[in-house]
Amino acid sequence: MSVVESVRWSKDGSAVDIIDQRLLPGRLERRDLCTVDDVCDAIATLAVRGAPAIGVAGAMGLVVSLAPHVSAPRDELLDTVRMLGDRISRVRPTAVNLAWAVGRVQRTAERATGDGAAILAAMRDEATRILEEDRAMCRRIGEYGATLLAEGSRVLTHCNAGALATAGIGTALAPVYVAAERGQRVAVFADETRPLLQGSRLTAWELAQAGVDVTVLADSMAASLMRERRVDVVFVGADRIAANGDVANKIGTYPLALAARHHGVPFYVAAPWSTVDPDTASGDAIRIEHRATDELARGFVADVVPEHVAVYNPAFDVTPAELVTAFVTDRGIIRPPYHFAHERHAESGQG
Ligand code: MRU
Repeated sequence: MSVVESVRWSKDGSAVDIIDQRLLPGRLERRDLCTVDDVCDAIATLAVRGAPAIGVAGAMGLVVSLAPHVSAPRDELLDTVRMLGDRISRVRPTAVNLAWAVGRVQRTAERATGDGAAILAAMRDEATRILEEDRAMCRRIGEYGATLLAEGSRVLTHCNAGALATAGIGTALAPVYVAAERGQRVAVFADETRPLLQGSRLTAWELAQAGVDVTVLADSMAASLMRERRVDVVFVGADRIAANGDVANKIGTYPLALAARHHGVPFYVAAPWSTVDPDTASGDAIRIEHRATDELARGFVADVVPEHVAVYNPAFDVTPAELVTAFVTDRGIIRPPYHFAHERHAESGQG
């Protein structure tokens, strides 16, 4: 099954080559990110988006942004690595993947020996490892998740946690792709996902490209669809999973989980293990990004909110752990009770 490659190195390695997701579904255009400004702007404006994809793009972006400084003395170079990396990490606060991936490349620079060129080469290798690991994690999530799907399963998803949101075949959509590869019939309902329409613009686009049966619905229709018994399973992604299993994901995920619980529909969160943040005890401590008024008020086509009316536009919400049937990770399917702090802390320092 061919899925899109949302983030990769440019041919000569001097840039991060991304699909500009702001233009989809109308135009499929790739864009080279060559400087720290390009990288920060692309992440801030959702040209590249989705927790794993911004992590990968941020890590690779740090490497390309550092290239002009390669002949600086070691101390100066490492100061620049810290400064550029911190700037990239701060662009979006909710997804743990961004600071995690950029932090890995920053630590690699600090450990590297030799001149600037050797430090930069070590950083490039680490960023490439993050990219390749992400691909492999998506595949494993897909294989574990596919065991939860039967012939003819009808899957409801929210936002876009597919190939566009990762370096591989996605997280929430990975089980769908793996099942489809095996010749299984699976149908997807994609929540439109107000206000930026990642579901209708992106999820529907990439599934249609891959030949998967997809139907778009307004977010407000999801509960009725469950009531009509037309949804067998919900799969969503995650931006951060707290130590107790609370999940931050795209705004609108929590009401979906409530509706799923009410209607007895399993609610699965698919995410790589690196999305677990052992330092965040519960969802209450997760910083939720708030985005610009215009994203909600001006919309894509015309103004939809009267001028000067206040707009509340958090980009994510927190779904309490008790509503999650199971986590589908690259390490297997994890069922309650969730105690992530211990496992993740035990391995901190390994990357
Ligand atoms: O604001 P976005 O489009 O970056 O939000 C993306 C999501 O909420 C995804 O569900 C999440 O990042 C997981 S992507 C595999």
